[in-house]
Amino acid sequence: MKMLDSNSLSISGCATAPAKVILFGEHSVVHGTPAIAVALNLRSHARVQIQKSDAPRLTVKSPAMKLEVSFSSKQLDTLGQGSGSNNDSTPLDPIALGFYNVSHLLQMDGFEASLTIDSEIPIGAGLGSSASVATSSVGAFLAAFKGEIDSLQVREIAFRSEELTHGKPSGIDNTVIALGGLVYFIRGQKPRRKTLSAEIPLVIANTKIPRSTATLVSNVASLFERKPRAVQNLFDSISDIVEQGLQALLKSDLEDLGELMNINHGILHALGVSHPLLDRYVWVARESGALGAKLTGAGGGGCMIALAKDTHHANEIKQELIKAGADAFTSVLTNKGVEKC
Ligand code: PMV
Repeated sequence: MKMLDSNSLSISGCATAPAKVILFGEHSVVHGTPAIAVALNLRSHARVQIQKSDAPRLTVKSPAMKLEVSFSSKQLDTLGQGSGSNNDSTPLDPIALGFYNVSHLLQMDGFEASLTIDSEIPIGAGLGSSASVATSSVGAFLAAFKGEIDSLQVREIAFRSEELTHGKPSGIDNTVIALGGLVYFIRGQKPRRKTLSAEIPLVIANTKIPRSTATLVSNVASLFERKPRAVQNLFDSISDIVEQGLQALLKSDLEDLGELMNINHGILHALGVSHPLLDRYVWVARESGALGAKLTGAGGGGCMIALAKDTHHANEIKQELIKAGADAFTSVLTNKGVEKC
């Protein structure tokens, strides 16, 4: 184990983590049904430099967010002890919480750390940017202190940071981002990870409409409270779609996958988490011959995903979406989760 002692003046660590796309089951997954997500090869990177100090602190720099925040050891303790939601909270608090959790786990004390995060992932678009940055940061801290990264351990620690960001996340984002590949996920159960072998030609269109995952999740929860039977039926249908979706993925049956995506989108619309622009992009994609299209993630804005027959077709759909004003791109999925860099 790499420890900071009087002989080691400075240690460093670097880690990278992917983005994610939820193929089936967002929102209902919060209420205990299964969901399927895949890792997307847009990545965040975190680099940390750590040295001994009499004035311990963590400085987090995010050039993309134009933010730099310094956390004293007292502020780190406050975050770690669960009193994070104070008036002075910043978007970088979840990263600081990851640092607190790693250093407590490894019983590291008395140092000054400087972390820089870079990310290619659009922020607040449903592609898991917050979970990816939390995951790569935790990976970087572990890489610096231990010299190695255990993706399951990173997944667990990053989940606590996600809780600070989203309130009551299901855990699907940090799971697929830490493990990479394809993940079949049920809240509170061991995830089933599969290596992606066949191509899943997806097109992603970003509405760039900002939204809050926590608010959308809580809207669905209050609809569930007001209309329990109707919403339970919708959740049950999504469950069924997820099971069929897994079979379709295992058989690489793209036609079946697409049809299931269309049904899932309809149900998400019924749950009130779509948006006119998401619906518009869904229809542009379908009219361009997409096998299926749906919103992905929390909805209310963010991104739409469409399934193409092959990569050539994916490019055609992308062009139609761009003509309709979307920020669209074809996706490259990845089996690589959190890794040292
Ligand atoms: O992180 P987002 O915005 O892609 O949404 C996460 C998916 C939800 O199911 C809506 C919430 C959750 O915690 O699973």
